[in-house]
Amino acid sequence: MTLRENSYDLAGRLAVITGGAGQIGSAIAKIFSRSGAKVEIWDRHEPAAAEGVLRFRAVDVTDPGSVSRAMAEAARDLGGVDLLVNAAGVTGPTKNVADYSPAEWQLTLSVNLTSVFYCSHAALQVMDRSRSGRIINIASVAGKDGNPGMAAYSAAKAGVIAFSKALGKELGTTQIRVHSIAPALIETGLLRQMDPEMVAANFAKIPMGRAGTPKEVAELAAWLASDGCSFSTGAVHDLSGGRATY
Ligand SMILES: NC(=O)c1ccc[n+]([C@@H]2O[C@H](COP(=O)([O-])OP(=O)(O)OC[C@H]3O[C@@H](n4cnc5c(N)ncnc54)[C@H](O)[C@@H]3O)[C@@H](O)[C@H]2O)c1
Repeated sequence: MTLRENSYDLAGRLAVITGGAGQIGSAIAKIFSRSGAKVEIWDRHEPAAAEGVLRFRAVDVTDPGSVSRAMAEAARDLGGVDLLVNAAGVTGPTKNVADYSPAEWQLTLSVNLTSVFYCSHAALQVMDRSRSGRIINIASVAGKDGNPGMAAYSAAKAGVIAFSKALGKELGTTQIRVHSIAPALIETGLLRQMDPEMVAANFAKIPMGRAGTPKEVAELAAWLASDGCSFSTGAVHDLSGGRATY
């Protein structure tokens, strides 16, 4: 499916995108940049095809010291931070709870959930609460449904949804809005971390009969980041081809 190269009014906005070397993160970085934002991407490794206009910083989002240093440096280099997108993630083990090790549980929670706290906490030290700002967290429909064989990932993403709701309320009287996005299967390399039978079972739950694309996630993120989205905070936005029922 071909989508138009839409853009939104993000002129002059200063953005940090974690997991920015990944497929969803880089699609968001691209549309933000095309829409006028100054973008810095964070990841464990450099993106394969470096986008000329994007800055890259090597950051492990599970390390709170590295996150807080990186955020202070990003604010200094960009001239502030208005937009934070938390898109770093891993699926963790795709096996039953009885077969998980405590270390696998910890790692999955740490990358998918605790990092969202570390990055949001660091961003709140540098974001101007009187200026239009956004924290956008990439959760998952797994966080609403609970995917069998992915208990740690599901629990982490449910945590991301609840964290976003709580923080949105806390910041309600400021100009900073907080959102989570709950995609179903999106055509990215992340699916290769999952058991193929599990991918097929999740695919079968999508009434539209196809996976989403990173660009479709980016379109929603860009609209949420824009001032066109003004009366919504602490919300969870589905992107599931009809799978999500609440
Ligand atoms: N692809 C899907 O079907 C799908 C569905 C729902 C939600 N999501 C979520 O979307 C987000 C992006 O996933 P994607 O599909 O683009 O996968 P991806 O693997 O292409 O991107 C994930 C990125 O996160 C980075 N990352 C992982 N651990 C990190 C760490 N400790 N520090 C810094 N960076 C780290 C990876 O290096 C990678 O570049 C994830 O949070 C994922 O859970 C994906």
